[in-house]
Amino acid sequence: MRAYKAKAVERISLPDREARDRHLREAGYNVFNLDADAVFVDLLTDSGTGTMSDEQWAALMRGDEAYAGSESFRRLESAVADVMGFERIVPAHQGRGAENVLYGTIISEGDYVPNNTHFDTTRAHVVNSGGEPVDCPVESEAGDPFQGNLDVAAVRDLADEVGAERIPAVVVTITNNSMAGQPVSVENVRAARDVADELDARLVVDACRFAENAYFVRQREPEFEGESVADVAREQLSYADAVVMSGKKDGLANVGGFVGVREDDDELYERTRQRGILYEGFTTYGGMAGRDLEAMAVGLREAVEEAYVESRVEQVAELGELLQEVGVPIRTPTGGHAVYVDAEEFLPSIPRERFPGQALVCELYREGGVRGVELGEFAFPGESRPQLVRLCLPRRTYFRDHLEHVAETFADVAERRGEVSGLEVIDEPEMAELRHFSAELRPVE
Ligand code: F0G
Repeated sequence: MRAYKAKAVERISLPDREARDRHLREAGYNVFNLDADAVFVDLLTDSGTGTMSDEQWAALMRGDEAYAGSESFRRLESAVADVMGFERIVPAHQGRGAENVLYGTIISEGDYVPNNTHFDTTRAHVVNSGGEPVDCPVESEAGDPFQGNLDVAAVRDLADEVGAERIPAVVVTITNNSMAGQPVSVENVRAARDVADELDARLVVDACRFAENAYFVRQREPEFEGESVADVAREQLSYADAVVMSGKKDGLANVGGFVGVREDDDELYERTRQRGILYEGFTTYGGMAGRDLEAMAVGLREAVEEAYVESRVEQVAELGELLQEVGVPIRTPTGGHAVYVDAEEFLPSIPRERFPGQALVCELYREGGVRGVELGEFAFPGESRPQLVRLCLPRRTYFRDHLEHVAETFADVAERRGEVSGLEVIDEPEMAELRHFSAELRPVE
């Protein structure tokens, strides 16, 4: 049961079929190019797209827009200290701004950075800082409780191969967005801490979805049974030397982010602050308005409220169940923020090089005005990985009938799956890591 009700609403509508066909064509078969008002149920991302609470809207009015020493910044600092245990933060306009500040500070040319799985912007920032991103996900099977974990042995092997001195940081992304939003156990973060100590490297946690992850830990890791989500979250983050945070996820805000640094790490704090000034803005606003700082300060506290986080994770599970009822192959158990569909299994006649995931994303829009996102060969060119389509739920935004509409749309696409054609890329940007944001495609028979 959701522990909130709607106070403001936004009209949405489903354009007719002819209009949807036209929009798709004009978007170059890339749903990032669609106008949002042409989308009926928008499951592109959970990033900055959620619904703020009345408390957050009220807090906006308290925004202190001072360039330096804003009170709103102090309130954000104390929220981060209370909720995440980091006393020092360097604010940034969003998660990737924080990634630029942190990774640009600690990575040098020729370094290697192991991560359970790099998210696209993380990978791009590691590469941009001269480093080589190395994905080290655990091998897991459907049904495993912590499929998002870091393969700690793989990190040791990497160090043996390239030398520990070339690994400035070990990164753990919770939950593992690129691996179906699967959680990471506290035990795994402790093991990552140990390996970071052995290598004399920093342990960085990408904490975008730390509250959702803590909910799964409480549910699945026996040591934490009966504890509060807030306590689990603090425990899990306590092993990290630094966090990168996108406030657009578990900050429940529309924009914002920060790097969290330990109190005793003066050197890292000073260097990240300087880089923050260069790229994000002065150290007490970092690319955000004072009111944005306020919204995130309130949002972080709400993110670990039991009633909120339970209804959040359970709604994702509900979408997963509705899809399974109509025979859609999904990754199980469902993750914290999204349901991931196996597109190769759903559209078996489309070969990998014709982007079955992107073809499915296009059909979902054409059929029901539903927007998802491909996280397979199109988004990660040249990588051997499952061809997944992510259906990501904005926080506190959609109702059960929207989820039912998504399931019905899948059922309708399934009925004519033999007619769905594959795609080819006809125009793409220079940086391969960012291809799916702006490339254009066309259908091929
Ligand atoms: N790290 C992870 C794990 C993310 O999922 C994201 C963003 C970022 C960093 C970057 O944060 O968007 O605030 O700059 N993920 C969004 C998504 C965009 O759709 O999964 P940002």
